[in-house]
Amino acid sequence: MKYDIVVIGSGISGMRAAIEAKELGANVALITKASPTANNSFMAKGGINAAMGNMKDKDSIFEHAHETYKSSLGVGNKEAINIFCEQAPAAVRDLSQYGVAFDKLKNGKISQRSFGGSKFKRTVHAADETGAAIMKTLYGVIKEYGIDILKNYMAINLVTKDNIISGVTLLDEVNKKVLVCEAKSLILASGGFASLYKNHTSNVRDATGDGIAMGLRAGLEAMNLEFVQFHPTGLDGSNFLISEAARGEGGRLVDENGESFVDELNTRDFVTRAIYKELAKDRKVYLDLTHLPEELINTKLIGIKKRVKTLKKLDVTKDFIPISPVAHYTMGGIKTDTIGRTSIDGLFIVGEAGDNGVNGANRLGGNSLSQGAVFGKIAAYEAIKFANRKGKFNGVDYYEIMKDIHYIEELKEESKRVNANQIRNQIGEILFNYLGIIRDEDGIKKAFEELIVIEEQIKNTNNGTTSTLKAMIELKNSILVAKTIAMSALLREESRGAHFRKDYPEQDHKFKTDTLVTMKDIQV
Ligand code: FUM
Repeated sequence: MKYDIVVIGSGISGMRAAIEAKELGANVALITKASPTANNSFMAKGGINAAMGNMKDKDSIFEHAHETYKSSLGVGNKEAINIFCEQAPAAVRDLSQYGVAFDKLKNGKISQRSFGGSKFKRTVHAADETGAAIMKTLYGVIKEYGIDILKNYMAINLVTKDNIISGVTLLDEVNKKVLVCEAKSLILASGGFASLYKNHTSNVRDATGDGIAMGLRAGLEAMNLEFVQFHPTGLDGSNFLISEAARGEGGRLVDENGESFVDELNTRDFVTRAIYKELAKDRKVYLDLTHLPEELINTKLIGIKKRVKTLKKLDVTKDFIPISPVAHYTMGGIKTDTIGRTSIDGLFIVGEAGDNGVNGANRLGGNSLSQGAVFGKIAAYEAIKFANRKGKFNGVDYYEIMKDIHYIEELKEESKRVNANQIRNQIGEILFNYLGIIRDEDGIKKAFEELIVIEEQIKNTNNGTTSTLKAMIELKNSILVAKTIAMSALLREESRGAHFRKDYPEQDHKFKTDTLVTMKDIQV
């Protein structure tokens, strides 16, 4: 297989990049390890931020950039933030032109709502199912444009020669074969790793940091993996996310006595820690929507109303909703420049798989979908510029491919005796307990040691169950990424944004910088 541009990942960053590249005349493939609709972008709820200026407040691109930087707690990259905030309104207008039915005001303009960490109504929405509205539309455009979609192809490794991208090795999951897909430029948009916090996450189970693992194996640096964002309001005991939209529309966070204990529209790191403190006292925490007009709930928060009814048999117009924080978004990724270029020529990384510094230590709610739309589009331009300049394929060193064929053969053997799902559960508990909302040195080291024990267990275990090859590749990627999170968290001896260490509870100016970890840093 050969394409000018190969995009890996079918979330908003990947789809937006593929569409742009096709519009610019490239021969494009969109590769996804599952179905194009099984991703976190599709699950995104409350909205997409852009300073459209449609509401009566005085929002502006400057305010959006200012609040995004403030939320990043000093480690955000101002250049990346400025590019993002300047381009976000156009990105939303593009989506609208492709056909996304955002909610409208009476004057016909796109409506915007409040979200955490902002003084302004900036979040564009489609009720409380914004991600699904965007992704259904983009998928329609992908099909209409005839972009090749390779479903059920799991990326194994990046293929490079002379530090230039050549393509990617893929597992054809149906035929269990290793293939090479050559590309003049490659855009990696394979998502983050919050699903490693299995049973404590809002993410689809596929968000296993594959792109980050691939980047590390290709010699790239992982940046700021310690910054894992916990969303304050998961529906307790489920992976259903109660969107920040609920608080943006006036919902209150209350303790067991129905009393407020935190400003519900503060940034997520702050609200999450306040909830954590309540829960640590063995108390319950609730979201209260009972004072909101029923019509508002039925129009703007209808998805929440229905799911809470189904999952908990509760009526949000009368009952408090029990909540607990869930791992939701990962700020760190493979280090890129401000527009997604990496130190491998022709390789671009966007969305949660990469880190261009736009979120620093803490992302503002609502910024993620717009970042995907902005930086996916820019990456397509850059990828095409590179492909045109180069003019030809880089060529493949087949010795490298043989290594992946052997790797898959080994995994086939392991897959006959390893229960990948059970080990993923174990990793989820390790990460939640030791690399969750509150951390310390002893816990982080314990996590690292337990991950090494798991690696050893995999070599020797035979528990009579089998796993798919895809699950085995994900498991290996998960362990590599989990160890990198632990090392990153150990190196940052301070508390900042989503990384809170009880042994270093203050911010320390020395650490107002990025944490960089490579493969050799985690080899023991
Ligand atoms: O709460 C939410 O709807 C999540 C939005 C986001 O993570 O940006």
